[in-house]
Amino acid sequence: MAWAPLASLLLLLLLVPGVPSVPCQVGSGSHSQLHRKSQSTKPVCTQPVYNWCSSWENSRICQAEKECSAQWRPLDAPPVSVKLFYEALCPGCRFFLSWMLFPTWVLLGKDVMNVTLVPFGNAKETQVNGTWEFTCQHGELECELNMLQTCVLYLLGSHFPNAFVVVNCMMSAVDQTTSLEPCLKLYAPDISMEDVTQCATGPQGKKMMHQNAMMTNHLSPPHTYTPWIVVEETHLENPSELLNTVCHLYQGEVPDICKRNTFSTIR
Ligand SMILES: *[C@@H]1O[C@H](CO)[C@@H](O)[C@H](O)[C@H]1NC(C)=O
Ligand SMILES: *[C@@H]1O[C@H](CO)[C@@H](O)[C@H](O)[C@H]1NC(C)=O
Repeated sequence: MAWAPLASLLLLLLLVPGVPSVPCQVGSGSHSQLHRKSQSTKPVCTQPVYNWCSSWENSRICQAEKECSAQWRPLDAPPVSVKLFYEALCPGCRFFLSWMLFPTWVLLGKDVMNVTLVPFGNAKETQVNGTWEFTCQHGELECELNMLQTCVLYLLGSHFPNAFVVVNCMMSAVDQTTSLEPCLKLYAPDISMEDVTQCATGPQGKKMMHQNAMMTNHLSPPHTYTPWIVVEETHLENPSELLNTVCHLYQGEVPDICKRNTFSTIR
């Protein structure tokens, strides 16, 4: 009957294992080249492969300097720069910030990942009578929230972890406006609502927001949507690749979370 081969083909397709999740690419070297290179050199590599990196001499004789130096990474490499260009009320921004960026930063730590938050996104600025005015994609409320977050980041600048925790607390709340006060009380009790409001309604807030506008408008290539993620000056297309990308780029000794081979998304 005709269905029998068709059925077995279907069965075969079902048995083919699924596409494996993307592994962490740290340390993936071009091992196939090693043998070819070692043929033409004088000192012969007699060491088993697990000894190639046991000394500088071995690594040189076995033509594995590049691979071994990746293993001998310094402890204190600079953190990987991650910049987020976003706006307070865009749902994708809220999702990315609270469900991907923040947890990834908590897992990797600030010594591995240097986060810069730039609330402005698709807003526009115009100069009216010598002061900057802003209009936002999701209306006046979004402009207010962007400004409050800008001021939280400004006032807590030297304590960035606290600022990020407060912004995350706001972005993950149902009502961001009313969440600010409890978020501050919990995570940044040293600054008050009055401090933030004074900044947000005065010249300091405008000045900081203008800086955000400049940073956003000078992106190269220009942003075409939000959230716009820039890792070490390169736009990251796929937000779920954030952890892999930072692990891959970090030059220091990577945290254990990077050594797992089955992650691509944190939820
Ligand atoms: C983190 O990024 C900011 C903004 O780009 C920069 O000014 C700062 O020096 C960076 N911090 C570290 C520790 O690299
Ligand atoms: C700019 O300032 C002038 C004088 O103070 C005022 O008459 C005018 O309405 C202002 N324009 C705007 C757009 O606010």
